Amino acid sequence: MFRRSERACQAARQVQVRVDGVTMSVPDTLSVAAAVLQVHGWQGYRRHHDGSSRAPLCLMGVCHECLITIDGQPNRQGCLVPVAEGMHIERQGGERHD
Ligand code: FES
Repeated sequence: MFRRSERACQAARQVQVRVDGVTMSVPDTLSVAAAVLQVHGWQGYRRHHDGSSRAPLCLMGVCHECLITIDGQPNRQGCLVPVAEGMHIERQGGERHD
């Protein structure tokens, strides 16, 4: 299981992002996936279209289990995108994004 590096978080600058409309402060060293996991945990990351819980697995761009909407653009790989000041993040709930 992944663990957050406390040392890395202490050295980081905090940025404000909005996750599902809620403003939160996170270290700028986190990826979008890591930030959402920090707040919602793996069971709250997103829902597959069959209703099952989905969560980031590899955190390195291979599995595509981290798909998320970033600044209005769906199906972004959250593990590959660093958080940025003012970013809008929306968890995907199983709806199709063709
Ligand atoms: S967590 Fe596997 S591609 Fe993002």
